[in-house]
Amino acid sequence: MNIKGSTNIVGLIGHPVEHSFSPPMHNAAFKALNMDWAYVAFDVNPLNLNSAINGARSLGIKGFNVTIPHKIEVMKYLDEIDEVAGLIGAVNTIDFKNMKGYNTDGIGAVKAIEEATSIKNRKVVVAGAGGASRAISFYIAKYGAESVTILNRNVEKAQSLADDISLIDEVKADSIKNIKGHVDDADILIDTTPVGMHPNVSDDAIISAEDMHEDLVVFDAVYNPNETSLIKEAIKANAKPVYGIKMLLYQGAESFRIWTGQNPPVDVMEDALKKTLNLE
Ligand code: ATR
Repeated sequence: MNIKGSTNIVGLIGHPVEHSFSPPMHNAAFKALNMDWAYVAFDVNPLNLNSAINGARSLGIKGFNVTIPHKIEVMKYLDEIDEVAGLIGAVNTIDFKNMKGYNTDGIGAVKAIEEATSIKNRKVVVAGAGGASRAISFYIAKYGAESVTILNRNVEKAQSLADDISLIDEVKADSIKNIKGHVDDADILIDTTPVGMHPNVSDDAIISAEDMHEDLVVFDAVYNPNETSLIKEAIKANAKPVYGIKMLLYQGAESFRIWTGQNPPVDVMEDALKKTLNLE
């Protein structure tokens, strides 16, 4: 990488950040497009978040990705929040041009799923009602799903999220115990729970192959391992699997577009991501 006096800096703030896959993904994109940009990671203690944002602004940093534990807190220090990010109540991308916050996590999931099927007018089931579900479910509703049903062990939490999203669209909630009935009638299943995530790779998937149908698109937000127990079940059922890595890819691609105004080189970013995650 050729860092010069003119190099534009973007980066990640989180705590911790050392295992992030974003620096290699974005730096590969800048290199491929011959752009004078570089992406670095900053470990920011929560106590220093305000001064980190002010400092970055003074240093002329162009953009940040924001990860745990700063996604909610950082909104206080921004001038503007994208409408859906505001409804979600969390941002993962800051554009310093206008001190505006965005949430590209949900957009990332939508773009990943749209490699397999359009979301418009589809019946979607989302398992889990935590932070990831919140970011994804708002975007699923925004992209015109016919119905969204949120399933969770704690049904009250699912209902509360469904009520929030009802500002955009009508959303239902139910117990994850009833998943089979909902999936029978669904076009898309999205799993935002940590079931099957490393190191619990042999967890039973939230639903098995015999309860899936062939037209079902099955997206697992877990990317480690690449092929989760749920994705294995989807393959067994001859359904359409969408791997979690695609959400990482497209959330990064959307951040790249926001900061640079250029079309992201998605193939280059995907190769870099796979290399970082040891998938090649
Ligand atoms: P994230 O930010 O990744 O969404 P989170 O906010 O902690 O993480 O949310 C985790 C979600 O996964 C929750 O909806 C949780 O269900 P409860 O609210 O009922 O606890 C769900 N979850 C966690 N472990 C699960 C399991 N073993 N089976 C089913 N759902 C699970």
